[in-house]
Amino acid sequence: MRTRPLKVALLGCGVVGSEVARIMTTHADDLAARIGAPIELAGVAVRRPSKVREGIPAELITTDATALVKRGDIDVVVEVIGGIEPARTLITTAFEHGASVVSANKALLAQDGAALHAAADENDKDLYYEAAVAGAIPLIRPLRESLAGDKVNRVLGIVNGTTNFILDKMDSTGAGYQEALDEATALGYAEADPTADVEGFDAAAKAAILAGIAFHTRVRLDDVHREGMTEVTAADFASAKEMGCTIKLLAICERSADGASVTARVHPAMIPLSHPLASVRGAYNAVFVESDAAGQLMFYGPGAGGAPTASAVLGDLVAVCRNRLNGATGPGESAYAALTVSPMGDVVTRYHISLDVADKPGVLAQVATVFAEHGVSIDTVRQQGRQDGDGEASLVVVTHRASDASLSGTVEALRKLDTVRGVASIMRVEGE
Ligand code: HSE
Repeated sequence: MRTRPLKVALLGCGVVGSEVARIMTTHADDLAARIGAPIELAGVAVRRPSKVREGIPAELITTDATALVKRGDIDVVVEVIGGIEPARTLITTAFEHGASVVSANKALLAQDGAALHAAADENDKDLYYEAAVAGAIPLIRPLRESLAGDKVNRVLGIVNGTTNFILDKMDSTGAGYQEALDEATALGYAEADPTADVEGFDAAAKAAILAGIAFHTRVRLDDVHREGMTEVTAADFASAKEMGCTIKLLAICERSADGASVTARVHPAMIPLSHPLASVRGAYNAVFVESDAAGQLMFYGPGAGGAPTASAVLGDLVAVCRNRLNGATGPGESAYAALTVSPMGDVVTRYHISLDVADKPGVLAQVATVFAEHGVSIDTVRQQGRQDGDGEASLVVVTHRASDASLSGTVEALRKLDTVRGVASIMRVEGE
């Protein structure tokens, strides 16, 4: 084994960074044996140097991240600060100064993955980012390496733990969205500003990364259709239950039937209780991958948290260090297929629509006509008159598969009917 250590610079020492440093120290011998050389923490860039950081020698702490990545003797830079800048500049500077990079930065990779890969390639360095998607769950390397000989057709997953916790709470207790969010905040699952999670931004970044790797095509955050889950109600869960379903915030990346294009989207959807993703509870993540030869694969585990995310970072660190010792690099960007990324309107899906309608002759026929005019075939219709004598009825329509454009056109036209008093809920149905 080589005795001269490989030098690691850590950018960020928060929940994840401190766990990375801790594991590097406590598992030092095992990591050295697995890599073939010891690794040494050579510097830690932080914003608040006065904070006490147990186990990290004070002389390693610096506020000058730029100087750290420019040192020239750093083998691997581990970036766990998140956000676009200064992370982007620090990563490219690290490549230019001879280091490979391990990053957990989903937002940056979803926005600028191509440019970062190009910078890594130009400098003959590695860019690994297993921790950017679903914390500890191995997904990037299984897709990038284990499934490199297969053809992935679909990636369907729960990739945000906060929203899964909230939806699971609503499902199991009948709570409304706000009540479940309050509990998630009190328990530390939701941040003080939960927007990135509940509006689907976090999941959309992960969907972009997964779609890009799965389909060997550049997919950026802007290509991902995104709907949050703040509008999901207790009534939606009651409807889902009647259909033998639950509701999950899903990231769905699909190849079209003709194979020429792909779509990526994040939105709440009903899925049958019999689907493996329906039993993913609490803050856990799970991703279902469908491919030609392997068939159906499911990856499950903790999608966030210091130690789980550090596990993924350390796995990358070992791989990158091994490559470095071998004078090699691992797989870079694979975007050769360059498939068209189609808009949401082209997605083929099913809708569950709940309408409040006038309870009088001809209304059902009128509603059915709107569906027919938009080329949308109805699977089931359930009507329930109200006991309160207000002359209204609830109408629940579940469609067969149709393009999202036809389905949303149908809903728009339904809203214009005098006899439709309101559209109580619209939810896509997936996983069948
Ligand atoms: N906030 C994310 C989640 C974890 O709730 O899953 C980091 O991506």
